[in-house]
Amino acid sequence: MPLKNTNIVSAAQTKFGALKGVTFREMFAEAVDKATTQAGVPKKEIQAAFIGSFIPEMLVHQGHTAPLLLDFAGLKGIPGTRHEAACASGATALRAAIMAIESGIYDTVLVAGVEKMTSSSTAKVTEALAAAADDQFESSIGLTFPGVFGIAAVAHMQRYGTTEEDMALVSVKAHKNASTNPLAQFQKEITLEKALTPRYVAWPLKLFDCSPISDGAAAVVLTSNEKAKKYTDLPVKITGTGQASASMDLCNRSDLTSFSSSVDASRIAYKMAGLEPKDMDFAIVHDCFTIAEIIASEDIGFFKPGEAAKAVRDGVTALDGDRPINPMGGLKAVGHPVGATGVKQVVVAYKELLGTAGPNQVPKHDTCIVHNFGGTGATCVVTVMRRSDV
Ligand code: COA
Repeated sequence: MPLKNTNIVSAAQTKFGALKGVTFREMFAEAVDKATTQAGVPKKEIQAAFIGSFIPEMLVHQGHTAPLLLDFAGLKGIPGTRHEAACASGATALRAAIMAIESGIYDTVLVAGVEKMTSSSTAKVTEALAAAADDQFESSIGLTFPGVFGIAAVAHMQRYGTTEEDMALVSVKAHKNASTNPLAQFQKEITLEKALTPRYVAWPLKLFDCSPISDGAAAVVLTSNEKAKKYTDLPVKITGTGQASASMDLCNRSDLTSFSSSVDASRIAYKMAGLEPKDMDFAIVHDCFTIAEIIASEDIGFFKPGEAAKAVRDGVTALDGDRPINPMGGLKAVGHPVGATGVKQVVVAYKELLGTAGPNQVPKHDTCIVHNFGGTGATCVVTVMRRSDV
Protein backbone atom coordinates (compact mmCIF):
# COMPACT_ATOMS: atom_id res chain seq x y z
CA MET A 1 0.00 0.00 0.00
CA PRO A 2 1.38 3.44 -0.89
CA LEU A 3 2.47 5.63 1.97
CA LYS A 4 -0.34 8.05 2.64
CA ASN A 5 0.88 10.70 4.98
CA THR A 6 4.42 11.78 4.07
CA ASN A 7 4.95 15.07 2.27
CA ILE A 8 7.99 17.09 1.36
CA VAL A 9 7.19 20.77 1.75
CA SER A 10 10.64 22.17 1.33
CA ALA A 11 14.09 21.06 0.15
CA ALA A 12 17.42 22.84 -0.20
CA GLN A 13 21.16 22.28 -0.42
CA THR A 14 24.36 24.25 -0.09
CA LYS A 15 26.68 24.48 -3.02
CA PHE A 16 28.75 21.30 -3.30
CA GLY A 17 32.49 21.48 -3.83
CA ALA A 18 35.61 22.47 -1.99
CA LEU A 19 33.98 24.96 0.38
CA LYS A 20 37.11 26.48 1.82
CA GLY A 21 36.64 28.23 5.16
CA VAL A 22 33.13 26.84 5.67
CA THR A 23 32.93 24.40 8.56
CA PHE A 24 30.95 21.19 8.97
CA ARG A 25 28.43 22.85 11.27
CA GLU A 26 28.13 25.99 9.14
CA MET A 27 27.23 23.95 6.05
CA PHE A 28 24.58 22.09 8.01
CA ALA A 29 23.08 25.31 9.37
CA GLU A 30 23.03 26.88 5.90
CA ALA A 31 21.08 23.96 4.43
CA VAL A 32 18.63 23.98 7.35
CA ASP A 33 18.12 27.75 7.11
CA LYS A 34 17.47 27.52 3.38
CA ALA A 35 15.01 24.64 3.76
CA THR A 36 13.04 26.18 6.61
CA THR A 37 12.94 29.67 5.10
CA GLN A 38 11.87 28.39 1.68
CA ALA A 39 8.55 27.03 2.97
CA GLY A 40 8.23 29.45 5.86
CA VAL A 41 8.47 26.67 8.43
CA PRO A 42 9.32 28.27 11.78
CA LYS A 43 12.14 26.32 13.39
CA LYS A 44 10.06 25.94 16.54
CA GLU A 45 7.63 23.75 14.57
CA ILE A 46 10.29 21.14 13.80
CA GLN A 47 9.77 18.34 16.28
CA ALA A 48 12.68 16.02 15.51
CA ALA A 49 15.71 15.74 13.24
CA PHE A 50 17.16 12.81 11.30
CA ILE A 51 20.69 13.46 10.14
CA GLY A 52 22.88 11.58 7.66
CA SER A 53 26.64 11.83 8.04
CA PHE A 54 29.13 9.07 7.35
CA ILE A 55 32.42 9.58 9.08
CA PRO A 56 32.97 13.02 10.67
CA GLU A 57 35.04 11.33 13.39
CA MET A 58 37.82 10.79 10.85
CA LEU A 59 37.22 13.73 8.54
CA VAL A 60 36.65 16.56 11.02
CA HIS A 61 37.35 14.80 14.33
CA GLN A 62 33.80 15.20 15.53
CA GLY A 63 31.51 12.55 16.92
CA HIS A 64 28.11 12.86 18.64
CA THR A 65 27.19 15.22 15.87
CA ALA A 66 23.41 15.51 16.07
CA PRO A 67 23.11 17.72 19.18
CA LEU A 68 26.08 19.81 18.07
CA LEU A 69 24.61 20.45 14.63
CA LEU A 70 21.10 21.11 15.93
CA ASP A 71 22.35 23.59 18.51
CA PHE A 72 24.36 25.47 15.88
CA ALA A 73 21.40 25.49 13.46
CA GLY A 74 19.00 26.98 16.01
CA LEU A 75 17.18 23.75 16.78
CA LYS A 76 18.48 23.16 20.28
CA GLY A 77 16.43 20.82 22.42
CA ILE A 78 14.64 18.68 19.84
CA PRO A 79 15.47 14.98 19.54
CA GLY A 80 18.07 14.39 16.87
CA THR A 81 19.89 11.27 15.75
CA ARG A 82 22.68 10.71 13.29
CA HIS A 83 22.15 7.86 10.83
CA GLU A 84 25.18 6.14 9.36
CA ALA A 85 25.14 3.82 6.38
CA ALA A 86 28.20 5.00 4.45
CA CYS A 87 27.12 6.83 1.27
CA ALA A 88 23.50 5.85 1.99
CA SER A 89 23.51 7.69 5.34
CA GLY A 90 21.24 10.43 3.98
CA ALA A 91 18.56 8.07 2.70
CA THR A 92 18.55 5.98 5.87
CA ALA A 93 17.90 9.22 7.78
CA LEU A 94 15.08 9.94 5.34
CA ARG A 95 13.56 6.49 5.90
CA ALA A 96 13.60 6.90 9.66
CA ALA A 97 11.85 10.25 9.26
CA ILE A 98 9.24 8.75 6.92
CA MET A 99 8.46 6.09 9.53
CA ALA A 100 8.20 8.70 12.26
CA ILE A 101 5.66 10.71 10.25
CA GLU A 102 3.67 7.68 9.08
CA SER A 103 3.47 6.36 12.64
CA GLY A 104 1.95 9.64 13.80
CA ILE A 105 4.64 10.29 16.40
CA TYR A 106 5.55 13.60 14.75
CA ASP A 107 3.95 15.79 12.11
CA THR A 108 6.89 18.02 11.13
CA VAL A 109 10.48 16.80 10.98
CA LEU A 110 13.80 17.73 9.45
CA VAL A 111 15.97 15.39 7.40
CA ALA A 112 19.46 16.63 6.69
CA GLY A 113 22.79 15.31 5.49
CA VAL A 114 26.28 16.75 5.76
CA GLU A 115 29.91 15.82 5.12
CA LYS A 116 33.10 17.89 5.11
CA MET A 117 35.77 16.05 3.13
CA THR A 118 38.11 18.50 1.45
CA SER A 119 39.91 19.58 4.60
CA SER A 120 41.54 16.12 4.56
CA SER A 121 44.08 14.84 2.03
CA THR A 122 42.95 12.43 -0.71
CA ALA A 123 44.88 9.66 1.07
CA LYS A 124 43.06 10.32 4.34
CA VAL A 125 39.66 10.51 2.64
CA THR A 126 40.38 7.26 0.80
CA GLU A 127 41.26 5.59 4.09
CA ALA A 128 38.14 6.97 5.79
CA LEU A 129 35.87 5.87 2.95
CA ALA A 130 37.44 2.41 2.99
CA ALA A 131 35.94 1.95 6.45
CA ALA A 132 32.64 1.43 4.60
CA ALA A 133 33.97 -1.85 3.19
CA ASP A 134 34.91 -5.06 5.00
CA ASP A 135 38.05 -4.15 6.89
CA GLN A 136 39.05 -7.64 7.97
CA PHE A 137 38.92 -9.26 4.55
CA GLU A 138 39.09 -6.55 1.87
CA SER A 139 39.90 -2.91 2.67
CA SER A 140 42.83 -3.75 4.95
CA ILE A 141 44.57 -5.46 2.07
CA GLY A 142 44.17 -2.49 -0.22
CA LEU A 143 40.72 -2.55 -1.77
CA THR A 144 39.55 1.08 -2.10
CA PHE A 145 36.22 2.28 -3.49
CA PRO A 146 37.57 3.08 -6.95
CA GLY A 147 38.91 -0.51 -6.76
CA VAL A 148 35.51 -1.94 -5.80
CA PHE A 149 33.79 -0.25 -8.72
CA GLY A 150 36.69 -1.03 -11.04
CA ILE A 151 36.02 -4.71 -10.34
CA ALA A 152 32.31 -4.21 -11.03
CA ALA A 153 33.20 -2.45 -14.28
CA VAL A 154 35.40 -5.34 -15.40
CA ALA A 155 32.60 -7.82 -14.65
CA HIS A 156 30.10 -5.72 -16.63
CA MET A 157 32.54 -5.32 -19.53
CA GLN A 158 33.20 -9.04 -19.65
CA ARG A 159 29.58 -10.14 -19.47
CA TYR A 160 27.89 -7.45 -21.54
CA GLY A 161 30.60 -5.86 -23.66
CA THR A 162 30.28 -2.49 -21.91
CA THR A 163 33.24 -0.32 -22.88
CA GLU A 164 35.39 2.42 -21.35
CA GLU A 165 33.78 4.75 -23.89
CA ASP A 166 30.28 3.87 -22.63
CA MET A 167 31.35 4.81 -19.11
CA ALA A 168 32.97 8.00 -20.39
CA LEU A 169 29.67 8.95 -22.04
CA VAL A 170 27.98 8.80 -18.61
CA SER A 171 30.58 11.30 -17.41
CA VAL A 172 30.08 13.57 -20.44
CA LYS A 173 26.33 13.59 -19.72
CA ALA A 174 26.88 14.29 -16.02
CA HIS A 175 29.19 17.23 -16.73
CA LYS A 176 26.80 18.58 -19.38
CA ASN A 177 23.87 18.51 -16.96
CA ALA A 178 25.94 20.01 -14.15
CA SER A 179 27.16 22.83 -16.39
CA THR A 180 23.82 24.59 -15.83
CA ASN A 181 23.54 23.67 -12.16
CA PRO A 182 24.95 26.55 -10.08
CA LEU A 183 25.24 24.32 -7.01
CA ALA A 184 27.49 21.78 -8.74
CA GLN A 185 31.19 21.26 -7.99
CA PHE A 186 32.06 21.05 -11.69
CA GLN A 187 30.08 23.42 -13.90
CA LYS A 188 31.95 22.65 -17.07
CA GLU A 189 31.11 20.41 -19.99
CA ILE A 190 33.77 17.90 -20.99
CA THR A 191 34.43 16.20 -24.30
CA LEU A 192 34.43 12.45 -24.75
CA GLU A 193 38.14 12.70 -25.49
CA LYS A 194 38.78 14.39 -22.14
CA ALA A 195 36.68 11.82 -20.28
CA LEU A 196 38.82 9.13 -21.89
CA THR A 197 42.13 10.72 -20.82
CA PRO A 198 44.02 7.71 -19.49
CA ARG A 199 44.58 8.93 -15.94
CA TYR A 200 43.67 5.63 -14.35
CA VAL A 201 42.52 5.64 -10.74
CA ALA A 202 41.63 1.93 -10.59
CA TRP A 203 41.56 0.27 -13.99
CA PRO A 204 39.37 0.60 -16.02
CA LEU A 205 38.13 3.65 -14.11
CA LYS A 206 39.81 6.94 -14.90
CA LEU A 207 39.64 10.36 -13.21
CA PHE A 208 36.43 11.29 -15.03
CA ASP A 209 34.74 8.03 -14.06
CA CYS A 210 34.99 8.99 -10.38
CA SER A 211 32.87 11.26 -8.25
CA PRO A 212 35.06 13.86 -6.55
CA ILE A 213 35.88 14.56 -2.92
CA SER A 214 33.42 17.22 -1.80
CA ASP A 215 31.90 19.28 0.98
CA GLY A 216 28.20 20.01 1.27
CA ALA A 217 24.92 19.71 3.08
CA ALA A 218 21.26 19.29 2.17
CA ALA A 219 17.99 19.45 4.09
CA VAL A 220 14.30 18.68 3.56
CA VAL A 221 11.25 19.25 5.71
CA LEU A 222 8.72 16.41 5.91
CA THR A 223 5.21 16.86 7.24
CA SER A 224 1.92 15.03 7.60
CA ASN A 225 -0.90 15.81 5.14
CA GLU A 226 -2.60 18.09 7.61
CA LYS A 227 0.49 20.17 8.29
CA ALA A 228 1.54 20.27 4.63
CA LYS A 229 -1.48 22.44 3.77
CA LYS A 230 -0.14 25.12 6.06
CA TYR A 231 3.07 25.49 4.07
CA THR A 232 2.32 24.76 0.44
CA ASP A 233 -0.43 24.08 -2.08
CA LEU A 234 1.75 21.55 -3.85
CA PRO A 235 3.68 19.20 -1.60
CA VAL A 236 5.57 16.28 -3.04
CA LYS A 237 4.45 12.88 -1.79
CA ILE A 238 6.72 10.06 -0.81
CA THR A 239 4.68 7.02 -1.81
CA GLY A 240 7.19 4.19 -1.53
CA THR A 241 10.33 3.40 0.39
CA GLY A 242 12.51 0.31 0.26
CA GLN A 243 15.74 -0.63 1.94
CA ALA A 244 17.84 -3.77 1.57
CA SER A 245 21.29 -4.98 2.46
CA ALA A 246 23.87 -7.32 0.95
CA SER A 247 27.19 -8.79 2.05
CA MET A 248 29.83 -6.15 2.79
CA ASP A 249 32.53 -8.14 1.07
CA LEU A 250 32.65 -8.74 -2.65
CA CYS A 251 34.25 -12.17 -2.32
CA ASN A 252 30.98 -13.75 -1.19
CA ARG A 253 28.91 -12.35 -4.04
CA SER A 254 27.95 -14.53 -6.95
CA ASP A 255 27.39 -11.62 -9.35
CA LEU A 256 29.25 -8.34 -9.64
CA THR A 257 27.32 -7.02 -12.65
CA SER A 258 24.36 -6.13 -10.46
CA PHE A 259 23.86 -5.13 -6.83
CA SER A 260 21.22 -7.26 -5.13
CA SER A 261 20.44 -4.57 -2.54
CA SER A 262 19.46 -2.18 -5.35
CA VAL A 263 17.24 -4.78 -6.98
CA ASP A 264 15.60 -5.68 -3.66
CA ALA A 265 15.16 -2.12 -2.38
CA SER A 266 13.60 -0.97 -5.66
CA ARG A 267 11.25 -3.94 -5.78
CA ILE A 268 10.03 -3.11 -2.26
CA ALA A 269 9.66 0.62 -3.02
CA TYR A 270 7.80 0.07 -6.32
CA LYS A 271 5.48 -2.44 -4.67
CA MET A 272 4.71 -0.09 -1.82
CA ALA A 273 4.02 2.76 -4.25
CA GLY A 274 1.89 0.46 -6.43
CA LEU A 275 3.95 1.49 -9.44
CA GLU A 276 6.43 -0.03 -11.88
CA PRO A 277 9.65 1.15 -13.52
CA LYS A 278 7.70 2.19 -16.63
CA ASP A 279 5.68 4.63 -14.49
CA MET A 280 8.80 6.59 -13.50
CA ASP A 281 9.41 9.74 -15.54
CA PHE A 282 13.04 10.04 -14.47
CA ALA A 283 15.53 8.61 -12.00
CA ILE A 284 18.09 9.97 -9.61
CA VAL A 285 20.66 7.22 -9.10
CA HIS A 286 23.83 6.87 -7.08
CA ASP A 287 26.56 7.43 -9.69
CA CYS A 288 29.58 7.43 -7.37
CA PHE A 289 31.37 6.01 -10.42
CA THR A 290 30.14 5.97 -14.01
CA ILE A 291 29.72 2.19 -13.95
CA ALA A 292 27.55 2.59 -10.84
CA GLU A 293 25.05 4.64 -12.88
CA ILE A 294 25.00 2.02 -15.64
CA ILE A 295 24.43 -0.82 -13.17
CA ALA A 296 21.92 1.11 -11.04
CA SER A 297 19.78 1.98 -14.04
CA GLU A 298 19.54 -1.73 -14.80
CA ASP A 299 18.97 -2.71 -11.17
CA ILE A 300 16.05 -0.26 -10.76
CA GLY A 301 14.43 -1.74 -13.86
CA PHE A 302 14.91 1.16 -16.27
CA PHE A 303 16.81 -1.15 -18.63
CA LYS A 304 17.29 -4.89 -18.91
CA PRO A 305 20.63 -6.24 -17.64
CA GLY A 306 23.33 -5.33 -20.15
CA GLU A 307 21.21 -2.75 -22.01
CA ALA A 308 21.99 0.45 -20.11
CA ALA A 309 25.19 1.21 -22.00
CA LYS A 310 23.30 1.25 -25.29
CA ALA A 311 20.70 3.57 -23.73
CA VAL A 312 23.49 5.96 -22.73
CA ARG A 313 24.97 5.82 -26.25
CA ASP A 314 21.55 6.53 -27.78
CA GLY A 315 20.91 9.53 -25.51
CA VAL A 316 17.95 7.85 -23.80
CA THR A 317 19.21 8.90 -20.34
CA ALA A 318 20.00 12.50 -21.37
CA LEU A 319 18.03 15.42 -19.96
CA ASP A 320 15.80 15.42 -23.04
CA GLY A 321 15.84 11.64 -23.53
CA ASP A 322 12.95 9.26 -22.92
CA ARG A 323 14.33 8.12 -19.54
CA PRO A 324 16.37 10.95 -18.04
CA ILE A 325 18.83 9.94 -15.33
CA ASN A 326 20.54 12.40 -12.98
CA PRO A 327 19.27 15.48 -14.82
CA MET A 328 21.19 17.95 -12.64
CA GLY A 329 24.52 16.19 -12.96
CA GLY A 330 24.61 13.40 -10.37
CA LEU A 331 27.38 12.67 -7.89
CA LYS A 332 29.95 12.59 -10.68
CA ALA A 333 29.78 16.28 -11.50
CA VAL A 334 27.73 17.86 -8.72
CA GLY A 335 29.94 16.30 -6.04
CA HIS A 336 29.60 13.62 -3.41
CA PRO A 337 29.89 14.77 0.20
CA VAL A 338 28.90 11.27 1.21
CA GLY A 339 26.50 11.81 4.13
CA ALA A 340 24.75 14.65 2.30
CA THR A 341 24.24 12.85 -1.00
CA GLY A 342 21.09 10.86 -0.17
CA VAL A 343 19.33 14.02 0.99
CA LYS A 344 20.64 16.10 -1.92
CA GLN A 345 19.20 13.51 -4.33
CA VAL A 346 15.76 14.14 -2.78
CA VAL A 347 16.28 17.90 -3.13
CA VAL A 348 16.93 17.40 -6.85
CA ALA A 349 13.91 15.13 -7.26
CA TYR A 350 11.73 17.68 -5.44
CA LYS A 351 12.80 20.49 -7.77
CA GLU A 352 12.29 18.38 -10.87
CA LEU A 353 8.86 17.13 -9.77
CA LEU A 354 7.67 20.66 -9.09
CA GLY A 355 8.97 21.85 -12.47
CA THR A 356 11.39 24.31 -10.86
CA ALA A 357 14.66 22.88 -12.16
CA GLY A 358 15.17 25.68 -14.75
CA PRO A 359 17.52 24.67 -17.57
CA ASN A 360 17.78 21.20 -16.00
CA GLN A 361 14.05 20.54 -16.07
CA VAL A 362 13.00 17.14 -17.39
CA PRO A 363 10.01 17.32 -19.74
CA LYS A 364 7.74 14.86 -17.91
CA HIS A 365 7.87 15.13 -14.15
CA ASP A 366 5.00 13.48 -12.31
CA THR A 367 6.79 10.58 -10.64
CA CYS A 368 10.38 9.53 -10.02
CA ILE A 369 12.63 7.06 -8.27
CA VAL A 370 15.61 7.99 -6.09
CA HIS A 371 18.35 5.41 -5.51
CA ASN A 372 20.98 5.88 -2.79
CA PHE A 373 23.65 3.31 -2.29
CA GLY A 374 26.10 2.70 0.57
CA GLY A 375 29.67 1.42 0.29
CA THR A 376 29.97 -1.77 -1.68
CA GLY A 377 26.19 -1.80 -2.03
CA ALA A 378 25.83 -3.41 1.36
CA THR A 379 23.02 -0.90 1.95
CA CYS A 380 20.60 0.48 -0.60
CA VAL A 381 17.61 2.74 -0.05
CA VAL A 382 15.11 3.51 -2.79
CA THR A 383 12.38 6.13 -2.61
CA VAL A 384 9.42 6.73 -4.94
CA MET A 385 8.25 10.33 -5.08
CA ARG A 386 5.22 11.86 -6.76
CA ARG A 387 3.72 15.30 -7.24
CA SER A 388 0.61 15.54 -5.08
CA ASP A 389 -1.62 16.71 -7.96
CA VAL A 390 -1.20 13.57 -10.11
N1 COA B 1 36.39 14.26 -11.58
C1 COA B 1 36.91 15.25 -12.33
N2 COA B 1 37.92 16.04 -11.95
C2 COA B 1 38.44 15.78 -10.74
C3 COA B 1 37.98 14.76 -9.91
C4 COA B 1 36.91 13.98 -10.38
N3 COA B 1 36.42 13.00 -9.64
N4 COA B 1 38.70 14.75 -8.76
C5 COA B 1 39.60 15.75 -8.87
N5 COA B 1 39.45 16.36 -10.05
C6 COA B 1 40.24 17.46 -10.59
C7 COA B 1 40.45 18.57 -9.60
O1 COA B 1 39.47 19.55 -9.69
C8 COA B 1 41.80 19.09 -10.03
O2 COA B 1 41.63 19.90 -11.15
P1 COA B 1 42.56 21.21 -11.39
O3 COA B 1 43.96 20.67 -11.49
O4 COA B 1 42.03 21.77 -12.66
O5 COA B 1 42.34 22.06 -10.19
C9 COA B 1 42.54 17.84 -10.49
O6 COA B 1 41.52 16.91 -10.87
C10 COA B 1 43.41 17.22 -9.43
O7 COA B 1 42.65 17.12 -8.23
P2 COA B 1 43.14 16.32 -6.98
O8 COA B 1 42.23 16.66 -5.84
O9 COA B 1 44.61 16.50 -6.79
O10 COA B 1 42.89 14.81 -7.42
P3 COA B 1 43.24 13.53 -6.62
O11 COA B 1 44.09 12.67 -7.48
O12 COA B 1 43.75 13.87 -5.26
O13 COA B 1 41.81 12.82 -6.43
C11 COA B 1 40.34 11.05 -7.08
C12 COA B 1 41.13 12.28 -7.54
C13 COA B 1 39.57 10.51 -8.25
C14 COA B 1 41.30 9.99 -6.55
C15 COA B 1 39.37 11.50 -5.94
O14 COA B 1 38.48 12.47 -6.43
C16 COA B 1 38.58 10.32 -5.38
O15 COA B 1 39.09 9.58 -4.53
N6 COA B 1 37.31 10.13 -5.81
C17 COA B 1 36.49 9.02 -5.38
C18 COA B 1 35.80 9.36 -4.08
C19 COA B 1 35.05 8.17 -3.56
O16 COA B 1 35.54 7.05 -3.56
N7 COA B 1 33.84 8.40 -3.06
C20 COA B 1 33.02 7.36 -2.49
C21 COA B 1 32.36 6.57 -3.55
S1 COA B 1 31.63 5.08 -2.98
